[in-house]
Amino acid sequence: MSDQTIQEATEAELNAPHPTDEAGINAAVQAALAAIESAGDLTELKDARLAHSGEKSALSLANRQIGKLDKSEKAVAGKLVGGARGRVNKALAARTVVLEEAEAARILEEETVDVTAAPRRRRVGARHPLSVLQDRVSDIFVGMGWEIAEGPEVESEWFNFDALNFKPDHPAREMQDTFFIEPADAHLVLRTHTSPVQVRSMLQRETPVYVLCPGRTFRTDELDATHTPVFHQFEGLAVDKGLTMADLRGTLEHFARQMFGKDAQIRLRPAYFPFTEPSAELDIWHPGAKGGPRWIEWGGCGMINPNVLRAAGIDPEEYSGFAFGMGIERTLMFRNDVPDMHDMIEGDIRFSQHFGMEI
Ligand code: PHE
Repeated sequence: MSDQTIQEATEAELNAPHPTDEAGINAAVQAALAAIESAGDLTELKDARLAHSGEKSALSLANRQIGKLDKSEKAVAGKLVGGARGRVNKALAARTVVLEEAEAARILEEETVDVTAAPRRRRVGARHPLSVLQDRVSDIFVGMGWEIAEGPEVESEWFNFDALNFKPDHPAREMQDTFFIEPADAHLVLRTHTSPVQVRSMLQRETPVYVLCPGRTFRTDELDATHTPVFHQFEGLAVDKGLTMADLRGTLEHFARQMFGKDAQIRLRPAYFPFTEPSAELDIWHPGAKGGPRWIEWGGCGMINPNVLRAAGIDPEEYSGFAFGMGIERTLMFRNDVPDMHDMIEGDIRFSQHFGMEI
């Protein structure tokens, strides 16, 4: 026992009533009952129990002194103190029941589940419609046995222009509104189209080559309803023995029907690209177009220019090929009736969500 405990005990003992002191014992009982009654919860009751019926309580100390009394006093004191402690314990037990019930009721109340309450919905995200569309296009070509190819967004001028038969002073270099990367003698650009991946694919792969190259592209356009400086294209490339314009047409027709339904048609109009010869603009007859079916400009295509095959180390006497390229944003605009480009790039999830959750 520490000194302090001895001191406390002694002090408490001094204050404790004599076991035959009826008034003193009764006063201790009254104090105990008052404390028990005013305990508002089980923790407070525990404190009251310790103070009034614990080892150092007045009644316990009085009880302990009984042993030291004369025989004549023992019986009186035993009855008096025993009765007093009995009353206190009874009160403690009764108050415990009351407070336990109150506690149970409180927990029941606090943890009630209101099954009629309006649910709080967790908002489910959705993939961006451009990603979904890009995957859909890729799937159609993978379904035909084609492979997916990728290339860098920061591209060397050689892949973006020279290898694609753009002559050094060709106005198309300017026409494509190119972002040139400094220093100029590094000859790097942000790729203006996905066509450089054609050349990379031909260099990297064995013939025959059938690849689809989706990816991000850049031009120095101001953002408005129909332009954005950062956009996406997909490029198709086929190189094999004996490929003709009929293969290009058949491939695009199949693709158009997969994308726009069995009533979709395509139309080729003569055009010019340095890397294809002959070249064509591709129009699509969109049966589900808003405001009724109509022809819509979709992209460019053509037979790969022999100069491009040669730049990629392929003999144009032995192989021929075709290529096509379309914009993904543009496709989404007329396929899903999105009139303003801003919606696609501003990142408001309400835009993505209304396309539904597609995996
Ligand atoms: N790269 C061309 C463009 O961005 C499109 C194209 C691709 C044309 C393939 C012909 C062949 O405009």
